Amino acid sequence: MSSRNAIGVFDSGLGGLSAVKEFMHVLPNENIIYFGDTGRVPYGTRSRDTINKYAFQDAHFLLEHDVKMVVAACGTVSSVSGARLEAELPVPYTGVVNPTAYTAVRKTKNGKIGVIGTSATVNSHSYKTRLQKLNPNVEVFEQACPLFVPLVENGIIHRDDQITRLVVRRYLSELKEQGVDALILGCTHFPLLREAISDFMGEGVELIDSGYETALYAAKVLKEQNLLNDDQTPKTPEFYVSDTPEGFKNVAGLFLGRDMEHTVTQIDIEQY
Ligand code: DGL
Repeated sequence: MSSRNAIGVFDSGLGGLSAVKEFMHVLPNENIIYFGDTGRVPYGTRSRDTINKYAFQDAHFLLEHDVKMVVAACGTVSSVSGARLEAELPVPYTGVVNPTAYTAVRKTKNGKIGVIGTSATVNSHSYKTRLQKLNPNVEVFEQACPLFVPLVENGIIHRDDQITRLVVRRYLSELKEQGVDALILGCTHFPLLREAISDFMGEGVELIDSGYETALYAAKVLKEQNLLNDDQTPKTPEFYVSDTPEGFKNVAGLFLGRDMEHTVTQIDIEQY
């Protein structure tokens, strides 16, 4: 497939594929080029300087493919580097924070919103700042869940798995006690744990998936800027990683929600 006219999506690893799944659903006619920085995952425990450096390298790799939009399908990058990426990239950019926060303030009924993410995302207070800008009356409760990322990357996600249940309870007990009725899955790895999280939080808590909200927002931006693809044939994304493609091949289907024919190419991200 020609990579021109594509949407470029990146993440620190495989989590962003949960967003790609939503993009394929919301924008089936769009070409997608995905870069997962599997050689340097996780980002969420790193310094701001390192996350900024990685974020710009990832974006430059996508720009070399002539993408028409860059999407940071990563809560960590969106939180730490989002403002700079938006200001400096030559094409439209979105992260996951703003579209997701917008939906959360509309969904909550009791005004209590929980945010879970990586340590870097939670320490940046990006979601809290955005949520309270949109509605100063909402109460925001934040919880870093760093162990969720390795659980997901290793496929330990089943709702009946003892380890999954234990870690979910350990991280989410306080949010449950605080009575949140909307919970932002502020890391793109977390939708894979949706069932386990939902079992623990209960039916009254709405889980908000940053990938889906971001796909809807990207569709709106592309439409407004007259950048939507008018070729109606269904597309298959192109995938790039910075470590061996084997790991990707093993778990990509989990994130994408289906097995599909795809090629995965390894690149050297340090040269960007
Ligand atoms: N998927 C990334 C995010 O949304 C987190 C994984 C990491 O720590 O690199 O924040």
